[in-house]
Amino acid sequence: MAYAAYEVSELRNAFARIARTIPQYQSVDTATLVTALTKAPLDELDQAIKAANAAQFAEAYARLTQACNACHQSQNHAFVVIMAPETGIFPDQDFRQISH
Ligand code: HEC
Repeated sequence: MAYAAYEVSELRNAFARIARTIPQYQSVDTATLVTALTKAPLDELDQAIKAANAAQFAEAYARLTQACNACHQSQNHAFVVIMAPETGIFPDQDFRQISH
């Protein structure tokens, strides 16, 4: 749980850095676009993590993934398709602690 909350925060920071580095992308205001698409699903993720509600987390995660793809589609990068991972890819990290 602590780890999930940490990663949501990292993701928010990453989007904020993108908006600072690239304030305008293809004549669209990056901060406005990022907020419009990701604020609600990121807030929902935070709420699900706080409530330790796995079903709510899965829903919010799916909505965030849709937001990722909606932006890629609207910004001429429809070929960048995000999906929920099917397997873990970090052999050097122990995720068994994430429920704490
Ligand atoms: C505000 C719009 C926007 C949102 C929201 C967004 N992206 Fe992107 N993403 C882009 C753009 C634009 C590019 C292409 C950047 C470039 O051409 O350098 C990109 C590129 C990427 C790439 C690079 C793909 C590659 O093969 O190089 C990945 C991975 C990615 N996004 C993941 C995500 C994920 C995961 C999310 C959601 C958590 C997300 N993006 C949300 C606009 C967005």
